[in-house]
Amino acid sequence: MSAPPPPEPIPGARLLFSLDPAVSHLNHGAFGAVPIGVQRAQQRLRDEMEANPLRFFSRGLADRVAHARRHLATFLDADPEGTALVGNTTTGVAVVLQSLGLRPGDEVVSTDHGYGAVALSIARECRRAGATSRVLSVPLTAPDAEVVRILRAGLRPGRTRLLVVDQVSSPTARLLPVAAITAAAREHGVPVLVDAAHVPGMLPVSVRDVAADFWVGNLHKWAYAPRGTAVLVVAGPWRERTEPLVVSWEQESGFPARLEWQATLDYTSWLAAPVGLFTLRNLGVQRVRAHNTALAAYGQRVVGDALGVAPTALPDPGGPGVAMRVVPLPDGLATTVDAARALRNRIADRLATEVSVSAWNGRGWLRLCGQVYNTPAEYERLAAHLPALLAQR
Ligand SMILES: Cc1ncc(COP(=O)(O)O)c(C=O)c1O
Repeated sequence: MSAPPPPEPIPGARLLFSLDPAVSHLNHGAFGAVPIGVQRAQQRLRDEMEANPLRFFSRGLADRVAHARRHLATFLDADPEGTALVGNTTTGVAVVLQSLGLRPGDEVVSTDHGYGAVALSIARECRRAGATSRVLSVPLTAPDAEVVRILRAGLRPGRTRLLVVDQVSSPTARLLPVAAITAAAREHGVPVLVDAAHVPGMLPVSVRDVAADFWVGNLHKWAYAPRGTAVLVVAGPWRERTEPLVVSWEQESGFPARLEWQATLDYTSWLAAPVGLFTLRNLGVQRVRAHNTALAAYGQRVVGDALGVAPTALPDPGGPGVAMRVVPLPDGLATTVDAARALRNRIADRLATEVSVSAWNGRGWLRLCGQVYNTPAEYERLAAHLPALLAQR
C-alpha cells in the first residue's frame, strides 16, 4: 500500500539552518538543530560577555535569566514561580531524584519506555540510598486507559516514592497520557516526575493541566533554543525541598535562584532561548507542528513499506502532534545498545543519513523525525537504500 502524500514544504525554512546539505538530518529529536538567527543572538550575548565579563555576570544577569524563564514558562503554560532553568533534562531528573531523600525500602517506579540515561540515573540514586528501582512494562500499542491501569496497579502506596513517566518516549515515540497518570498516582499519594524532554515546541502543552509534581522538558530540541536550555517545573509543596546538584552563591535564595545559579557557566543559551520561540512563531507554530507530524508519518510509511512492514504493524504515536515515528527493524538486528549504535553509525556513514536506532523489547527500532528542514525525498532515499544495507549483516 502506498504512503499518503507528504505535506507541502514550508518555503525557505531550510535556509534558517546551517545544517550540512550533504546529509539527511532525520534525527532532530536527539540534539535539535539551532536556527542561524538563534546562533547569532547567542553569539551577540557572548560578545557582550567577553567585552566585560564582570559587568555581564555581576550586574543584571539574574534579572535577564528571570525574564527568559518567565518567557519560556508562559509558552508552556507553567507557573513562572515554579519554574527553574536547568541545563538539560538529564540534570533536571538528577535534581529531582536527589531531592527526594530516598531511604532503604523505598522504591522508584518507571516504565520500559524510559530514556536510557534517566534509567541509569534512577538506578544510581536507588543504589546509593538502598532503595529499589522497578520498571513496569507497557505494551507499545496499549490504549491510554490500559497504560493508566498498568501504572496504577504497579504503584505500592507507602513504598513508591516516585513514578517517572515520559510524555513522549524516546525509543518508541509514544505519547503517554501523563495528566491521567498523574491523577491516578495522586489518588495513591505517589508523586510523579514527567520526562517531557521532547514536548516544548513539539506539542501544545499546559504544564499546569498535567499537574505533575515535577515536569522537565528541553527547549533545545523542538523549541529551537541553543543547547543547554531546559525547564524544571516543580509543584508548590516540593519547591523548598528541591536542591541543586551543586551548591553555589544563591543557595540561601530559595527556589528557583538556587537551582539556576550554578557558578561560572555560560548562561547565554538561556538568554537566547526566547529567540528560538520567536523563530517558531514566525514560521507559524501550528504550521510547523502539522508539517513535522505529517512528514514523520510519511517517512514511517515509505521506510516501513521498503522494509516490508505492514502499515498495521507501524506503531502509531497514540495521539496527534508527535513528530517522530518508529519502524521495527527485521528480527535479530540492533537488539542490543551496542548493535543499535553500530547500525546508526553505519547508516550515517554509508547513506549520509542521521537517524536514531534503539534496542527496545528485544527488537531494533529505527526512529525518524520530521522537521521543517526535511524533505520527502530524504525519507525516500533512505527507503531506497536501507534494505540493501540491512541485508549486509
Ligand atoms: C525522553 C528523553 N529524556 C531525556 C533526554 C535527555 O535529554 P538531555 O540530553 O538534553 O538531557 C532525552 C534526549 O533525547 C529524551 O529523549
